[in-house]
Amino acid sequence: MTLSEFQQLVTSLAADGENMIDAATTAALLEEARTSLLGRKSGRLPELFKQLPSLAPTELREAGSLINAVKAKLEAHLDDRRRQLDAAASSQRKVDLTMPARRQWLGSKHPVTLVIEEIEDIFRGLGFTIALGPEAETEWYNFTSLNFPPDHPALDLHDTLYLGENVLLRTHTSPVQIRTMQKFKPPIRILSPGNAYRRDFFDASHAPMFAQIEGLAIDEGVSFVDLKATLTHFANRFFGKTKTRFRPSYFPFTEPSAEMDVECQLCHGSGCASCKGTGWMEILGSGMVHPSVLNASGLDGDRYTGWAFGMGPARIAMLRYDIPDIRILYDSDVRFLYQISR
Ligand code: PHE
Repeated sequence: MTLSEFQQLVTSLAADGENMIDAATTAALLEEARTSLLGRKSGRLPELFKQLPSLAPTELREAGSLINAVKAKLEAHLDDRRRQLDAAASSQRKVDLTMPARRQWLGSKHPVTLVIEEIEDIFRGLGFTIALGPEAETEWYNFTSLNFPPDHPALDLHDTLYLGENVLLRTHTSPVQIRTMQKFKPPIRILSPGNAYRRDFFDASHAPMFAQIEGLAIDEGVSFVDLKATLTHFANRFFGKTKTRFRPSYFPFTEPSAEMDVECQLCHGSGCASCKGTGWMEILGSGMVHPSVLNASGLDGDRYTGWAFGMGPARIAMLRYDIPDIRILYDSDVRFLYQISR
């Protein structure tokens, strides 16, 4: 074979080889191309190597360096193509369009927050504004101004943590009544959501820290009729048309005092485990603001009258969402919370 014949064969193999490698669209096809070009047994390049001895000895050096250069070039081209195919395969895996989309995790409002906001909306519609007060209170705001006589048994229900001399974690939101009456002149209509603390066991219906909502309405000529009408309206708005009843009760800061029950939302009055067979559920304490509470706040107890209530939105959330145990509301278990708060 002459040198120029050999050169032609090698050059056309180089061109064919590049095309075959580029045409391989899978790793398997590329391997086929490699075998047919470089395969030791019958690859086209090794076959050409076998032709070298048929050349004139003076032409060997040139022929040898040419075929070795082509071999190196084909090998490099094969490597490049292999990397290309690998990258394409792995990027295809990343955009598997048949995979279900990952759901975006969104936070949501806690059931108790939802209930508080709904109650706020109803009272806002009646002209009430929102007032807030501190959770660390003085004895005077929490008890004395609210007409708790020293050593009265009513105090037993309000055992709490003292943070220092005279400063305690408030046991109810009622101190906000006093703070509001000190700051604003009647007519007063406020709603005050916030946390309260008591030395209660953490059981199915009690928590040592719990949300409360206080309501207060003060003006001239306000009577128990206003209390009853407003709270009945609230119950009907919140629960949908429902039966209500008022039972006499006692709070040092209201006189007369009443607890309001709504028809059990689960059995609708026929009696079930949740209402302990009574058909009723208590949702709030209320009453006409005691004159000495008005006087303690600096308002004229002869001129003004008013009413107040306090309710526990966690209890109401339990009624609304049929939650059997109050502790679930404090567990922060998103599997539960997510079912309610959308
Ligand atoms: N503060 C009372 C409680 O925590 C509830 C209440 C508020 C009762 C206002 C009457 C008027 O039990």
